[in-house]
Amino acid sequence: MAETSTAQAQGGHDAGGTRRDFLSLTTTAVAGVGVLAFAWPFIHSMNPSASVLALASTEVDLAPIAEGQAITVVWRGKPVFIRHRTADDIRAARETPLSALPDPQPDERRVQKPEWLVMVGVCTHLGCVPLGQRPTDAKGDYNGWFCPCHGSHYDTSGRIRRGPAPANLEVPPYTFTSDTAIRIG
Ligand code: FES
Repeated sequence: MAETSTAQAQGGHDAGGTRRDFLSLTTTAVAGVGVLAFAWPFIHSMNPSASVLALASTEVDLAPIAEGQAITVVWRGKPVFIRHRTADDIRAARETPLSALPDPQPDERRVQKPEWLVMVGVCTHLGCVPLGQRPTDAKGDYNGWFCPCHGSHYDTSGRIRRGPAPANLEVPPYTFTSDTAIRIG
């Protein structure tokens, strides 16, 4: 079963009933540290049944996302971060030697198109939603994402660089359905 989440700049709204509520909650969840720690269990408690989730996919229109912007959509009840990376983001990710990475993975293996990074926005330590989606968010020491719960820093490829998280942010299965649209799941 496919469900549609319209991609809009962080803080925007889509048109989709319950889905809109989920997106709004996720948008709220990335708004601040205090909210982050508690919003995720709340969102999780609102998940549809497992049988619905197992079939769900999420369609995202990337066209409205300007370079340097990020949005959060919901896929199978989880926040998914999509960042339209700048040339500097891509260069930083690709110039990092694998020997500097706790969970070594080339940037090229984490993206289908260099400018689009798509990841599950759940810290691999204990499951908080990292900061870094909003322009005003702390992005950590590597200009990617920062998980304030216990201080994990992720880079511009979503790879763990410092802190207790054991692994990189997960890349979900997705396919480009056009030059500027993806289907997650
Ligand atoms: Fe992210 Fe602990 S949950 S650092």
